[in-house]
Amino acid sequence: MSRLKRVLTLLTTVTVVVGLALGGGFLWLYSDAKVSTAGTRFSQELAVPPLAKSTVKSDGTRVFDLTMRAGSKEFRSGRQTPTWGFNGDFLGPTLRAERGEKVRVRVRNTLGEESTVHWHGMHLPAKMDGGPHQMVAPGATWTPHWTVDQPAASLWYHPHPHGRTETHVQRGLAGMFLLDDDTSARLALPKRYGVDDLPVIVQDVRFDGAKFDHGHKMMSDTGFLGDRTMVNGTLEPYKEVGDELVRLRLLNASTARVYHFGFADSRQFSLIGTDGGLLEKAVAMDRIQLSPGERAEVVVRMKPGERTVLRSYPQKNYGDFWQSRFGGGDDTFDVLELRARNTLRPSPGLPAELGRLELPKGSDSERTRFFGLMTSGINGRRMEMGRVDETVTRGTAETWTVRNDDGVPHNFHVHDVQFRVLEVDGKQPPPELRGAKDTVFVPAGRTVKLAMRFTGPADPDTPYMYHCHLLYHEDIGMMGQFVVVEKGQKAGSVRTPHTHPGH
Ligand code: C2O
Ligand code: CU
Ligand code: CU
Repeated sequence: MSRLKRVLTLLTTVTVVVGLALGGGFLWLYSDAKVSTAGTRFSQELAVPPLAKSTVKSDGTRVFDLTMRAGSKEFRSGRQTPTWGFNGDFLGPTLRAERGEKVRVRVRNTLGEESTVHWHGMHLPAKMDGGPHQMVAPGATWTPHWTVDQPAASLWYHPHPHGRTETHVQRGLAGMFLLDDDTSARLALPKRYGVDDLPVIVQDVRFDGAKFDHGHKMMSDTGFLGDRTMVNGTLEPYKEVGDELVRLRLLNASTARVYHFGFADSRQFSLIGTDGGLLEKAVAMDRIQLSPGERAEVVVRMKPGERTVLRSYPQKNYGDFWQSRFGGGDDTFDVLELRARNTLRPSPGLPAELGRLELPKGSDSERTRFFGLMTSGINGRRMEMGRVDETVTRGTAETWTVRNDDGVPHNFHVHDVQFRVLEVDGKQPPPELRGAKDTVFVPAGRTVKLAMRFTGPADPDTPYMYHCHLLYHEDIGMMGQFVVVEKGQKAGSVRTPHTHPGH
């Protein structure tokens, strides 16, 4: 063989080998990126967070105590995972209050670092909101108080320290806050907590030995994605039920994972409520998508002796090929198994009418604002603790247009208010977006229009937040601040709080 020919052969071989290695490597990454826990054998009884104890003061104020603390939990037998929790090792008790009640929560921080507790979905004064301006130093107690003034709903609470929300929630700081009202008391809905009315706090998780692995995947910019799910801190959970109708209060408390819930046998369920409360009428569906922070109340009908699995299916509208595969859109999870007893208590049929929406219409809006979502910031700006981005007038309704301006999945959450989704890409929203919402999924290319009313109280010096609830995005600055002021008033000066206690 001539020397040239030998060199050419060698080069070709090298090219082919490198090509194959790269292609194989990509194929490996590609197939490895898709996660599925379909077919899970459900082996642990579902934990139900206890209802928080409270005391009622002579003036009628209901007082709760929440202590943030470190602990450890045996998620898998024989292995203790270091965790954080409220009043316990992992997650927190379910707080419960009625519309019209005055509530007060004594939040004690016994962690080694500062944090906050935010009341997600709650309408309350900005100073009580528990955002990044209400830091609780280690050893300190913060005591927010407010009057519950909104419809019955499944809200939740979690920390909100700027830049560290993702890890604080992942370690276990989250819980539910249920609100009741006259309507919810009157309606014949499943309502025995932990029996036919179940909190379902869904989180994805990954372990590294005994410890949590909070690392982000190399190929994805959505934030943490786990390789399995747990409900209320229980892996492979099953729940035995003894009623024909079971109400699930679904909360996506994951930090970046979007779920597309349905049942493995594709049975229908009734959607009865969204983030901010009951729908006007139940809607029969077989799938519902929930992005981080969103809630849905669904009712499922069981037959004696049967089992069914709540599953998260691959996403339909998650963006391009890359996002779908590497950002979690193609994943499947078997989340929770319901096991019906051989004899079931009969449940009354669902009421024809449920709640009443207390939301403005688009025509009520006195002004519009636009929010362009990019991982690099909202409207081209990263969060600044000392900058007020928007000033709204107390008592007025507004329309906010929110558009995803990059290819990455985002969502949008607004503190203090519940909003009506007026449009999704110019069209009427699907049933799951027709109720009261405080968080809405905004995948690549989507534009949503939201109508909300700011009823105050005014506080020009203390901002509320709006942000992407994929917590890694929030942490890196996909957040902005708004203040509610009286007509004609200007935003005050918002201070950057100290970030280290003791200064
Ligand atoms: Cu659930 Cu600003 O957060
Ligand atoms: Cu919130
Ligand atoms: Cu985002």
